[in-house]
Amino acid sequence: CNPFKCSTVQVLYCNSFVLQVTLCLPLVLGSSGIMVKLTTNYFRLTSRPQWALYQYHVGYSPEMEARRLRSALLFQHEELIGKTHAFDGSILFLPKKLGKKVTEVFSRTRNGENVKITITLTNELPPTSPTCLQFYNIIFRRLLKMLNLQQIGRNYYNPSDPISIPNHRLMVWPGFTSSILQYEESIMLCTDVSHKVLRSETVLDFMYSLYYQVEEQRFRDACAKELIGLIVLTKYNNRTYRVDDIDWDANPQCTFRKADGSEISYVDYYKRQYNQEITDLNQPVLISQSRRRRGTIMPGPVVLIPELCFLTGLTEKMRNDFNMMKDLAVHTRLPPEQRQREIGKLIDYIQKDDNVQKELRDWGLSFDSNLLSFTGRVVQGEKILQSGNVFNYNPQFADWSKETRGAPLICAKPLDNWLLIYTRRNYDTANTLLQNLFKVTPSMGIRMNKNCNCYINLRMQLLKTIFFSLKAVCVLSSSRKDKYDAIKKYLCTDCPIPSQCVIARTLSKPQTAMAIATKIALQMNCKMGGELWSVEIPVMVVGIDCYHDTLSGKQSIAGFVASLNQTMTRWFSRCAVQGRGQELVDGLKACLQTALRDWFKWNNYLPSRIIVYRDGVGDGQLNTLDSFGFFSFILIYFSPRLTVIVVKKRVNTRFFAQCGGALKNPPPGTVVDVEVTRPEWYDFFIVSQAVRNGCVAPTHYNVIYDTGKLKPDHVQRLTYKLCHMYYNWSGVIRVPAPCQYAHKLAFLVGQSIHREPNLLLSDRLYYL
Ligand SMILES: *[C@@H]1O[C@H](CO)[C@@H](O)[C@H](O)[C@H]1NC(C)=O
Ligand SMILES: *[C@@H]1O[C@H](CO)[C@@H](O)[C@H](O)[C@H]1NC(C)=O
Repeated sequence: CNPFKCSTVQVLYCNSFVLQVTLCLPLVLGSSGIMVKLTTNYFRLTSRPQWALYQYHVGYSPEMEARRLRSALLFQHEELIGKTHAFDGSILFLPKKLGKKVTEVFSRTRNGENVKITITLTNELPPTSPTCLQFYNIIFRRLLKMLNLQQIGRNYYNPSDPISIPNHRLMVWPGFTSSILQYEESIMLCTDVSHKVLRSETVLDFMYSLYYQVEEQRFRDACAKELIGLIVLTKYNNRTYRVDDIDWDANPQCTFRKADGSEISYVDYYKRQYNQEITDLNQPVLISQSRRRRGTIMPGPVVLIPELCFLTGLTEKMRNDFNMMKDLAVHTRLPPEQRQREIGKLIDYIQKDDNVQKELRDWGLSFDSNLLSFTGRVVQGEKILQSGNVFNYNPQFADWSKETRGAPLICAKPLDNWLLIYTRRNYDTANTLLQNLFKVTPSMGIRMNKNCNCYINLRMQLLKTIFFSLKAVCVLSSSRKDKYDAIKKYLCTDCPIPSQCVIARTLSKPQTAMAIATKIALQMNCKMGGELWSVEIPVMVVGIDCYHDTLSGKQSIAGFVASLNQTMTRWFSRCAVQGRGQELVDGLKACLQTALRDWFKWNNYLPSRIIVYRDGVGDGQLNTLDSFGFFSFILIYFSPRLTVIVVKKRVNTRFFAQCGGALKNPPPGTVVDVEVTRPEWYDFFIVSQAVRNGCVAPTHYNVIYDTGKLKPDHVQRLTYKLCHMYYNWSGVIRVPAPCQYAHKLAFLVGQSIHREPNLLLSDRLYYL
């Protein structure tokens, strides 16, 4: 029983020296709410090696890059190292000590090059050492390989149990994620199901369709850009490879030398070895660096034939195909019971495989065969406050749009000087939208003027000269990204006016037309500075999220959103665009400065408490608090109580509520701060939203800095409350609203605008 939880944080100070700070906090657990019995996708490690492990560093001369090659070279000396070993490419773990502290051996590559390998003892680890975890993970990945699961990226997939979706010409391999870590009370394996989508389109098909889309002289560059880095599958042996290069000088008729020294062409080789017919003899070949065959390891690049390689994963276009995603979801969005069964399969595989069992026994490792169960809490539901009305909604349903339909908004902005622009083809759609807006807005309290300024094909540049006092612009358009980008860029920078783009197609179904008109009215009201609803919250909250711009290379954009009033209904939004040689932190400082100035303008005092939700931070970055400069800056100006919380949406943890023998999704508001949290962190999980199908994903929160002395219950309740405050969705979302706002802002700027939007827009939610 440990009444304190300590964590060590490394702070990079002035980019030069690292300050190590250990924070000890009283054991932090919330207590409010109703108890709920939960199961989760974790298995306890029930026994672990009781002997010491020897850790070696392995160096190569000349230097070898590829991890597989390094391991192939090392294991030419298996008689020295022994059968029981674990190696990740540079660190080697052995259960026995080698004769000398430094051992030198020589290996030979396939091209006959001699390589000197130096194996140096660096550490002797007692069974309790945390480094052992790294070693358990290596062993576990090896077990997955022994089960004939295929590694793709970081996960492992099962080719022998594929799911076929013939109407979309797709195939899905089921698979698993895995990681072993020390949690609150025990070391556990967290594993979740994962799916790999395989397409029936070959790389050659893809090249042909690309050929018709780009100019001839750009074709090779375009191929390189689209294909290098992709994972392809060769069905003749069910293996996956990463495309590292395209060799335009070679073709399937070229020959290569086999291991026995004889020459053979690729066409003949694939015919003889795999009975594969290559029909296009002029295609280039793909290069993948190094491979491994069962038993023997063959370093050196692999040559692949585009015609025999199938693409994996989904394209943007496929993601936008509603029917395809729906049919795919049947197999990939598993409801709780089915998900639990699929997860259980992994432990089954492990227990049924004799080789795996032997390997586990050799290391002295074993896992619990049941998923971990424990008790969580469901916090009290929130009331939605809207202009004197109090709405109790049922958290089991995804949203409260039914309850609040037709109720007056907290602050409704009149639609009295606005513009609707559309193309001639959309004339009818535009009229219907207008009629529907007239029907839905009065009860919300939004005043609309009778004669709208509607224009067909108005050029953006004319906007400002015609209506300099415009309050909003609504554009009916196709889904062309370049048009959207141009409109947003112009109306967010040169001519700052809130704007709403609507894809004409979404208005085409008469049965949903009213609901959509309601959504558009709400969205436009937010963009014009209106307020919709609120929940009770007493502090200033900041959300930060980053977007890494792929178009302009390394440029990063941080979205920054801060609440401006006690009810969290008004937000200040600004983004920091990182220029060459600049630190994002400097931009964030400027954001905070203006936010505080605006807060003061609205309230006539400065906030006494600031809570920062920071999204988009990897686990690895947690220790080097890049934003330290940012915090110290706040602290020297005045001294508010400060709490910094790192938000992580992508977690593999899943919770299932036990409900009379059956497993269901846990109710929204479920909080977990025991068992699967980490001993060195002040962290918790919240399941905030309800999902209609599949398994709900919890969000992980980690309080990394806290002078606020907020009680855990308060931090948890506040976080959950904030998930109700995203104005573009009448329901609860996965993260606190400021994070989602910051994310949307950074995304819009990164995708469409590429520079800082006009500050005149900063007190509006113009990016919704
Ligand atoms: C939010 O703050 C603004 C400015 O102080 C104020 O006009 C607005 O009424 C506030 N909203 C609520 C619900 O208090
Ligand atoms: C806002 O909601 C609309 C309609 O549901 C959606 O199309 C749009 O992508 C949302 N925008 C943001 C920024 O979330």
